[in-house]
Amino acid sequence: MAFNSRREYWGSKLGFVLAAAGSAVGLGNIWKFPYVTGSNGGAAFVLIYVIFVLILGLPIMIAEFVIGRHTEKDPVGAFKLMAGRSPWTIVGYMGVLSGFLILSFYSIVGGWTIGYIIKSISGSVTSLQDSSSAKSLFAAFTADPVQMILYHALFMLSCMFIVVYGIKNGIERWNKILMPLLFGILFVLIGRSLMMEGAWHGLSFFLKPDFSKINAEFLIAAMGQAFFSLSLGMGAMITYGSYLSPNEKILTSAFYIVVLDTLVAILAGLAIFPAVFAMNMSPQEGVGLIFHIIPVIFSNMPYGAFFSVLFFTLLFIAALTSGVSLLEVITAYVIDEMGWARRRAVVVFGTVIFILGIPSALSFGASDAMKLWGNLTFFDLIDKLTTNYMLPLGGFLIAVYLGWKYGLEKTIHELDPDTRIISLKELWAFFIKFISPVLVFILFLMLLRNDIIGQ
Ligand code: TRP
Repeated sequence: MAFNSRREYWGSKLGFVLAAAGSAVGLGNIWKFPYVTGSNGGAAFVLIYVIFVLILGLPIMIAEFVIGRHTEKDPVGAFKLMAGRSPWTIVGYMGVLSGFLILSFYSIVGGWTIGYIIKSISGSVTSLQDSSSAKSLFAAFTADPVQMILYHALFMLSCMFIVVYGIKNGIERWNKILMPLLFGILFVLIGRSLMMEGAWHGLSFFLKPDFSKINAEFLIAAMGQAFFSLSLGMGAMITYGSYLSPNEKILTSAFYIVVLDTLVAILAGLAIFPAVFAMNMSPQEGVGLIFHIIPVIFSNMPYGAFFSVLFFTLLFIAALTSGVSLLEVITAYVIDEMGWARRRAVVVFGTVIFILGIPSALSFGASDAMKLWGNLTFFDLIDKLTTNYMLPLGGFLIAVYLGWKYGLEKTIHELDPDTRIISLKELWAFFIKFISPVLVFILFLMLLRNDIIGQ
């Protein structure tokens, strides 16, 4: 039952699914998934990742939608409404805080995509003969404070521009145009990559698992990637679920979103790894992987400049629809809890995030000033803190709260009417109470052991 009857709803189920898929599908799929997979040995990582997506990601996503629609609130408001003045509201605040932190470094990479669109048009990234020139171009680009801050600002402004128009006319409208375009561009790229000589080695790296690679760090990376890629653990899906009309089905929507997100990650891998191996490059290049690989492919193919513009536009689109969802969490919080107007919330907090992102923007300079401790830059630190700690912890608490504290009987009617032999509702209830939280807990212990005792 809805607590609040005047909330703005998504215009249609398709609009909701595309917007939530737009949140999920982002740099996490196209930039992060390939380099994390590359650094963790390939196919075995992909397999474990997909398993985590199904047994952790899908149940927690459903839980977030259930909480969102049940309360029709931002994450803080949702926990206040359900838990009153208990410490559980911290889960909501932690979500909003994660939104600030993630968007602050996300926007930097989003800015890179704008930079590379412009460089593709001007031709400077489409006339590179080998990977070492692509690498030095990327290094010089990311070390330039002026460009970094300028593109970071442009990315934040783009997110703000969409969020200011609200749910139906802003977020939903743009996702409906941009998401289908994204799929189209990705297919063109895979075709091109698979046609390269030597593509086969990349395919086998990506698809033939070698299980000897699995260890604690590997499993943790797979869990973090699942949370990050599906936009879970900080209430982004609570927020999007809060605009979901009571007539729409949660189970089937969540299923589509998870499938779409995983499909895009796999498609991105199919587009990138054949090229990596065809060019005799290493899959372990870290954050620069796609920026080192893609420009060289385009430089050496007919109509390369055209495809390059297309690819980085795709990446920008994917990043934008995700950045928008991060900003919407904060905006919804400020509107719902502090009573601000949407426009003011977006302008003020968009600016705050821009400022917060500046140290991350300067993390790639040649100077070591931005190295904090160990080899971690500010950018790495925020990325690791949110992806490996805050999101899994948030997801764990969401599952425990809904499954054990608030009571599933009060919310399970939010799920689709169920006529199957194995009740999907009951299956979900089992996962959200037992499987997902226990698994996150175990992995979390492994993570703590690894990060604190292990060093
Ligand atoms: N899922 C997005 C990606 O893969 C990033 C993202 C958007 C996100 N909203 C989020 C990550 C909320 C965690 C939480 O690029």
